[in-house]
Order: sequence, then C-alpha cells, then structure tokens
Amino acid sequence: MTTAADHHVDPDIARAETLPPSAFTDPAFLELELRTLFARSWLLVPPAWGAPASDDTRSLAELVAVRGAHAPFTLLGRPLFLQRDWEGALRAFPNVCTHAWHTLVDGPGRARTVICPQHGRTFDCEGRFVGQQGFSKDALPGFPRPCDHLQAMAVGEWGPLLFVAPGAPARPFDAWLAPVRETTAGLGLDAMQRRTHGAEVREVEGNWKLHAWNYMDTFHITFIHRAPGGLADAIDMSSYRTELFDGAALQWAYAKDPRDGFDPARLPARFRDPARPERRVFALWWLLFPNVTLNFYPWGLSINAYEPVPGRPERTLFSWHHLVADEAQYARREEGWLSHQVDAEDVLAMKQVRRGVASGLAPRGRFAPGAEQGPHWFHRAVYEAVFGA
Ligand code: FES
Ligand SMILES: [Fe+2]
Repeated sequence: MTTAADHHVDPDIARAETLPPSAFTDPAFLELELRTLFARSWLLVPPAWGAPASDDTRSLAELVAVRGAHAPFTLLGRPLFLQRDWEGALRAFPNVCTHAWHTLVDGPGRARTVICPQHGRTFDCEGRFVGQQGFSKDALPGFPRPCDHLQAMAVGEWGPLLFVAPGAPARPFDAWLAPVRETTAGLGLDAMQRRTHGAEVREVEGNWKLHAWNYMDTFHITFIHRAPGGLADAIDMSSYRTELFDGAALQWAYAKDPRDGFDPARLPARFRDPARPERRVFALWWLLFPNVTLNFYPWGLSINAYEPVPGRPERTLFSWHHLVADEAQYARREEGWLSHQVDAEDVLAMKQVRRGVASGLAPRGRFAPGAEQGPHWFHRAVYEAVFGA
C-alpha cells in the first residue's frame, strides 16, 4: 500500500527514517510520483535539440527565441513541443493532435499556425483550435470543446535554461529560482555557450531518487571519492557547506588549490573567508528539486537531470550537458580533478545500492544529524510533494 503513514519522513532529522525501499522499486509509487511530485514541479526542458554528441549545437532555447517559433522535445517519455506566440509568451503543449492523436510538430519551425499532417487540423500559436475541413460548428453541436484545444503547460525561462510545469506548480518560478539566481548572478549564464562535446544522455541503473540522494550525500565523498586525484583531493572537505532552501539546495566548498576556484569578485561576498581571503570557492553545486543539478564551475556550467523512466522505477535517464563560459578553463577542467573518475565512482556505488534496495532485505535507514542534512532534506521533500504534507 502506498500510504502517507508508510512513507512518513519526520521533519526532525534525529527521528526521521528514510523513505522505504519500496519507494525506489515499486511501479505504483513511481506512478504516484508522476501524478503528484512531477506534475507540480518545474522540470528542465532538455537543453539540446540535436542528439547529445552530434554537431548540432542549437539549443531549444535558441530555437524558440523568436515569435511564432516551435520545437518538439520529450520529457518523462512524453512528446511535447514548445511554442512561442506572436506576443512573445512561451508555452509547452502536448505534441499530440486532439483529433486522432497524430504528432503535430516533428522539428523546429516557425509559423502562424500549427497544422496537423494527418487530417489538417489547425491550431494557432496559443494552442487554440482554429479550423479543420469537415468540422463545422453547425454540423457538430458543442464543438470545439475545451479539450479540442491544446492544453498549455507553463514554461519558465532562465537564460538558456527552460523549465516546464506539467500541472499547477507548487512554487512560483521566480521564487523557486531566487536563491539560485542570487548566488550565480556574476557567472554570466546568459552568455554561456553549449558544447556538444561531453554532452550525453544514457539510461543508468537505479531509481531517480537514488541519484538525487547521492548528489545530496556529502557523507560519501571521503569514502567513495577518496582515490588519488579525485574530488576529495580537490576540495577542502572541512569547508564543505550544505544550504537548504524551499525546493533547492546548494553545496559548496573551497578549492585546495586556489587556481581551481572562482575569482571571488564573481560570487556574492558571503562566499569569502574573511580570515583567509585567498581561499576560492571550487564549485556551486545546486540541486533544483526534484531532479536537476546545476553545477557551476569557473569554466561554466554542467547540467545533469535524473529523469524517471515511466513504468521502470529502477532505471533513470541520466543527461549531462555543458555550457561554457571560459574556453581556456574548460580545456583544462580535467587536470584539476578527475570529473570522469568521480562520475564512474558514483555509477558503481549506485549499482551496489540498487542491488540492496531490491534485495527485500533492506530496512528503512536513519540519518546522521551532523552529516546527512542534505539527504534528509531530500527524503522529506519527496514525502511532502507526493503526499501533500
Ligand atoms: S490526427 Fe490531427 S487532424 Fe487528424
Ligand atoms: Fe559522489
């Protein structure tokens, strides 16, 4: 049974248990998450139009920058398209005709209307049915019904990043992003350029929450990422901070080698250490609840999303995109520390955890109050979003 009582995550970390293992394996729980948590969240629109490593560098944000432009994308396995109207408002619509369900838009384009290829049903840029041969109001009482128009989903724009809310979002877009924007205002997001090199989309093992939990898990860094030249060598672990907000969480630490860190002038003053002004922040690691991470480095931004795969709770569609601010620093980003090594270490750890989760032998865990505020925050946020607590 999927009840709130069976999944309760106490707001007090000292009392809280993790979500039960079944929340990571049960198709019914994933269904419930899709209807509740994901329906009410801002979800990242995949940044790329072309295949991940193709030469097509166009981003979806660029493709729909002008009035009347549209472009299709897939999110949570569902076909959607972005449409900018002639007043400049951007919306997302199901890429499914309301007549007999043919795909409406199969590539980027720009027009006053969207015309279905199958029987010619025509919609305007705001998704309204405007006409179709054979469908006159006189012959069809009550036509068009509200559902004959395309149902718009809200879209939020932040520079090159687009987000869509499948249902009524739990948080207003600007309020949700305010703390993220505050810390990154000096990092030039708008001017960053997408790189297809390094872009990747692949299906990995483990429920989407295992990946987000792992991201919030500072505790594992000195264990899993202790290899020479790895993450634990690149940052000063004693300076590691986790800051929790409503719907977002920031982790950051000072670099061991100041050459690997941000120019302090690019970050708000609170990131400076008054006692040791030479210290530089290695990265701003933002998790945007539920499933997107924005990883700001001096070279630019690495974007990850952990998309659930409908019907398959133990798989995650993992995507990885880079936006580059500084070419020289981007070129040497693997020298400071081995980001691919860290990625491989996490994937291996997730394989092990996934086996444990599915074993039928896993009890609900507890949290270390001094070391696991991030994981606790994440479990609690899932509980609240799914059960409306
Ligand atoms: S399916 Fe679109 S017009 Fe028939
Ligand atoms: Fe990790």
